[in-house]
Amino acid sequence: MADKLAVFGGPQAITVNEADAFEWPIFEKEDLETVKIVMSESDYKFYEEAYYLEKEIKKFFEIDYALPVVNGTAALHSALFALGIGYGDEVIVPSYTYWATVMPVLACNGTPVFAESDPGTLNIDPEDIERRITPKTKAIIVVHLCGLPCEMDNIMEIAGKHSLKVIEDCAHCIDSEYRGKITGTIGDIGCFSYQATKLLPGIEGGMFITSNREYYERAVALGHYERLPGLPSDSEYKKYQHTCFGFKYRINPLSAAIIRVQFHKYERINRQRIENLQYLEKELENIKGIEVIRTPAYMKRNYYCFRLKYKREELGGLEIDKFIAALQAEGLETGRERYVLMHKQPVFNERNSLFPWSYNTEKMPGKTNLPVTENLYETILTMPTFTRASKNLVNQYIEGIKKVVANAEELKNFEELNIKDIPDMDWSGFDHPVLR
Ligand SMILES: Cc1ncc(COP(=O)(O)O)c(C=O)c1O
Repeated sequence: MADKLAVFGGPQAITVNEADAFEWPIFEKEDLETVKIVMSESDYKFYEEAYYLEKEIKKFFEIDYALPVVNGTAALHSALFALGIGYGDEVIVPSYTYWATVMPVLACNGTPVFAESDPGTLNIDPEDIERRITPKTKAIIVVHLCGLPCEMDNIMEIAGKHSLKVIEDCAHCIDSEYRGKITGTIGDIGCFSYQATKLLPGIEGGMFITSNREYYERAVALGHYERLPGLPSDSEYKKYQHTCFGFKYRINPLSAAIIRVQFHKYERINRQRIENLQYLEKELENIKGIEVIRTPAYMKRNYYCFRLKYKREELGGLEIDKFIAALQAEGLETGRERYVLMHKQPVFNERNSLFPWSYNTEKMPGKTNLPVTENLYETILTMPTFTRASKNLVNQYIEGIKKVVANAEELKNFEELNIKDIPDMDWSGFDHPVLR
């Protein structure tokens, strides 16, 4: 008989109490120091931080153009604008992602067309991309979800065959690689986020990279009036220097400075997260009821977040919510997927004169059928990223999972199990630390 579950009054699997086990971002003395230094620069020299960051990013990615921006969402908007996405153009996107992958398509008056995610990788399914192509399709946005690269060879081949452009949403990566190529440099444009939870946290910030001069200049014209005079004299965008195209996407210099400091040490700062998650993956590989998302040998992945799949059928049909509730009772910080599926959202399911499909409801993105993604979504388990956790804590997580798996049969008949909702962050109640 396996140990008694905590839900039945047994001892909890998690006994280690590590206050900083999941701490992120990790800011050290030099991060704070750099903010002070930048703030004390005179004559607006702090604006140069963006240019220093740009230079370092270009060198790292060995790419011709890098444009720091205010956040990852702005990078994606800039990318779509750079490609000339306009009214009625279709852009193929995953539904299983954060909203910023999809919503900038609307900002360009384009129509997002949702494609299925591959249950083996959680990433957009190349075969389904191809099925969704129409004469109106102009581009594909792929997301390397949680830091695992998409199947870029297949995606680039499809894009080439149909003359489509590819934007890589690299919000979850720094240096993931696909067959030796760094993500963000494989498609036409790469977009990164440096928001506080990200692997390279600048509190806010983003990056647009490309090797195409025209795309770079268009992105500059969209939101960087201050860079327009610096464009080459033959640039057709230089003349817009007094107006820009209506957006101001310049990165905050303080964020640029923090990102630079974090960039110099990202390997060290992320090491414990990677070691812990790779160990967890290995230890969970052969546990009934759990499927680990595998990394193919030809990829190097980052771990922005960590997801497992629950296999109900292997545990006698035990519902996922009961499984999670039992894990939570053991002290594990686990839950259901926190992203919502995009194609189910009201914005894609209502008539609204703002959107191109308004006069042709058949074309509403919300009418898309994504049975594979919807089934997959019901199986996702979230785990912490163990950024500073000891091996001891990771081992207790593994033991906690094994304990619940071993008691699945008993749990099945237990009715009073309620999953704890991990609440979304609510900023409204924040007490200002300085202006109190
Ligand atoms: C997949 C994905 N794309 C884009 C973004 C947008 O980045 P930002 O928050 O910097 O605007 C995020 C942010 O969480 C993301 O997760």
